[in-house]
Amino acid sequence: MEPKLRIEGASKIYATKSGAVHALEDFSLDVHEGELVCILGPSGCGKTTLLWALSGLHALSSGRILLDGTPVVGPRPKEIGMIFQDANLLPWRNLRQNIEFPFEIKKRPVDGQRIDALLGETGLRDFVGSMPRELSGGMQQRASIVRALAQNPGVLLMDEPFGALDAFTRDEMNLLLMRLWSESGQTIVFVTHNISEAIFLADRVVVMTPRPGRLARVYEIDLPRPRTVEMMFESGFIELVQDMKRVVETGGRDLLEVE
Ligand SMILES: Nc1ncnc2c1ncn2[C@@H]1O[C@H](COP(=O)(O)OP(=O)(O)O)[C@@H](O)[C@H]1O
Ligand SMILES: [Mg+2]
Repeated sequence: MEPKLRIEGASKIYATKSGAVHALEDFSLDVHEGELVCILGPSGCGKTTLLWALSGLHALSSGRILLDGTPVVGPRPKEIGMIFQDANLLPWRNLRQNIEFPFEIKKRPVDGQRIDALLGETGLRDFVGSMPRELSGGMQQRASIVRALAQNPGVLLMDEPFGALDAFTRDEMNLLLMRLWSESGQTIVFVTHNISEAIFLADRVVVMTPRPGRLARVYEIDLPRPRTVEMMFESGFIELVQDMKRVVETGGRDLLEVE
């Protein structure tokens, strides 16, 4: 079967005043339809660079991205949704107006039914009239998820979306994301530097090397679904965290010793 997303030999070099910054090097990966893949790597290894290339917002220096078999050469907002660490809500619009904003930009009729269902599932129904400053960080991030999912994109790209939240809220958001995903069947590429989060969420965890980001190792995660927070305390989970931590720290250079 054709992959939903194909990354072929992706490389990115930024030209800066102080010289070339090699952010991403020959990174290749197939992501299958309906899969939840976590990209894990240390800060500065090129995760965001990779995600922006996947979105079509930034071009690669070499290599290419295919979505449903066709090259991504520019933004495809109907098919690809993005969620960032910052909820990026417009401060002068209430929650519902923020969620409806992408429909206005795209001049599409607002899908009120879908929005209402998502608001219900995320526990935000009573806050539609609230302004962003009146909402907690977790609620703001839930609103940004509703805003993205209301567009019903086939692919969701998430860049450390829960990185600014406290640990409890993060667990809650991860559970919420998995529940929404199990209902929608979307393809998700989720970037994080948090090892437990990656294992907890993913079908596969793709570990990147430090900059320039290359593929260090891919782990299939066979934890049953639905997943629970308790699974993170099981010995198999903790061993996997330790193993991945070593790969992240060594950039996968210990591969030969491990296998
Ligand atoms: N627009 C840019 N111009 C120059 N260098 C950049 C730019 N964006 C990112 N970089 C550099 O590329 C590397 C990878 O950055 P990034 O993709 O943001 O990593 P990550 O998201 O994994 O932290 C870093 O060294 C960063 O400083
Ligand atoms: Mg980043």
